[in-house]
Amino acid sequence: MARAELEQSADVVTDAIDLLTRDHRLVDELFASLLQAAPQQLDPLARRLSKMIRIHTQIEEELFYPTARRALGDRGDLIDEAEHDHTEAKQTMMLLESMTSDDPQFLSTVESLREQISAHVATEEAELFSELRKAHLDLVALGITLAERRDTLMDVLGLHGDDEEGAANMREMQRPAKGSRPRDEVTK
Ligand SMILES: [Fe+2]
Ligand SMILES: [Fe+2]
Repeated sequence: MARAELEQSADVVTDAIDLLTRDHRLVDELFASLLQAAPQQLDPLARRLSKMIRIHTQIEEELFYPTARRALGDRGDLIDEAEHDHTEAKQTMMLLESMTSDDPQFLSTVESLREQISAHVATEEAELFSELRKAHLDLVALGITLAERRDTLMDVLGLHGDDEEGAANMREMQRPAKGSRPRDEVTK
């Protein structure tokens, strides 16, 4: 599936685990593209990757993990572990976001982030998702909630448009106090 198509595909949600798994594959694909990209593509691809990871981690932390924790009963350790992984990956993300591709550490930072994310994703899919499939939880309803939130965040970060628009929106969000435009214009 083409990347653009996959990014839009959350519109057709089967359930929460399906939506998150599709995001995982999209992130895998973005890492692979980034590590093979021409030099002029590195910065826009890194920005896109970082925004996709931020959206994914945010919907998991805001909506998925709290609901999963309630459903899992005495397997809350799976959520503790997932949240710990997110905290570690975010430190590497912040480092990557502070760099441009001409930094000598750029590619090694991308590689470190890829290793952290891929270990986390493997655990989520093999342990957390399989435990949740056995739990009493309405994964379809949760999937709809996740898809709506994901869609809103993608609009805010401009991932439904081209990358430059998204980058401009992100800059606007980071500097709301001075010269900010009305929200509906920023997030159109
Ligand atoms: Fe995930
Ligand atoms: Fe996660």
